[in-house]
Amino acid sequence: NRPPLSECLNLHDFEAVAQAVMPDKAWAYYSSAADDEITNRENHTAYHRIWFRPRILVDVTKVDWSTTILGQKSKMPLYITATALGKLGHPDGELNLTRGAAKHGVIQMIPTLASCSFDEIVDAAQPGQPQFLQLYVNKDREITKRYVQHAEKRGIKGLFITVDAPQLGRREKDMRMKFEDEGSEVQRQGSGVVDRSQGAARAISSFIDPGICWDDIPWFKSITKMPIILKGVQTWEDTVKAIDMGCQGVVLSNHGGRQLDFARSGIEVLVEVVDKLKELGRWPVPNFEIYVDGGVRRATDVLKAIALGATAVGVGRPFLYAFSAYGQDGVEHALEILHNEFEMNMRLLGARNLKEIVPEMVDTSSLRSH
Ligand code: FNR
Repeated sequence: NRPPLSECLNLHDFEAVAQAVMPDKAWAYYSSAADDEITNRENHTAYHRIWFRPRILVDVTKVDWSTTILGQKSKMPLYITATALGKLGHPDGELNLTRGAAKHGVIQMIPTLASCSFDEIVDAAQPGQPQFLQLYVNKDREITKRYVQHAEKRGIKGLFITVDAPQLGRREKDMRMKFEDEGSEVQRQGSGVVDRSQGAARAISSFIDPGICWDDIPWFKSITKMPIILKGVQTWEDTVKAIDMGCQGVVLSNHGGRQLDFARSGIEVLVEVVDKLKELGRWPVPNFEIYVDGGVRRATDVLKAIALGATAVGVGRPFLYAFSAYGQDGVEHALEILHNEFEMNMRLLGARNLKEIVPEMVDTSSLRSH
């Protein structure tokens, strides 16, 4: 009852198939966003206001869009970002992403609230396959400390601390559903009583500490040597603070529009952040990387972010929809589509590698009026 995989020609196509085949509850949890979902829509449409200024007569016989993220090789300037509760969409849950990422040489960020256990996901990786960890900080800091130190021991290459969710946003589509399958990791996080009356998100999030603050950064640095990246930064002020506190990066993100509605899109914040760092004479920033996520659906979206100063971007829902509809094959096909889009668009832009994707290649005048 689903079209053959070859009929999915772009990342949007997976969404339509997933919506048709997924259980209503899973669709509600994956697709929902906060309040009126304005930010979720804006995440994608903001990319529509950035235009290219390609260069011509460059020998683009060979093009290379590989890069490194936190020193780890990646065949594309993107990673699979953390999205909770993979088994709502498919019985193999997050393992679809681990295996698909291995096939295409990209990095998976493991969510704290994965349906599969952390060790299952690490065990499913190929030898040498890099993985990152997304962290929700537990009110019981001992649990967090043990979790982080275990992750480091298991070879995780970067700790992405989510800083945009001191409380979960109102995702009304999801709240209308009663949550039943809370996933195993949720219980391991010691979330206590699970309130099933208001959707998946509310049911699984009660352990998250709303008290986490800047003063905790030295503590994180004291318990791990993994690079620390703040996920969910939305201003230049907080980016500068992250740099000054010795973090190794930020993800300019609004959690896929699932938290504060009317938060700006990550790509718009990127322009603000890089402009300000340049004005302050602090660009490029040594030992610090900037990522963007939210609404990325095409290689052209990624290339716009690279031109504007991002090291890489995170992609969330498209991979959830891909495995919900087609399992691991869907994830591989989605990555194959992106691979082909990179090859073609690098050629059409006249850039042989990502260093040649420069700010002059994009026109942001429709994005922001200065
Ligand atoms: C998320 N996201 C997320 N982020 C995080 O830090 N911890 C989490 O547990 C989750 N869970 C989660 C579940 C689902 C279903 C979605 C869609 C998203 C946010 C995610 O990491 C990322 O910021 C956005 O998904 C990026 O936007 P796109 O690519 O989904 O548009």
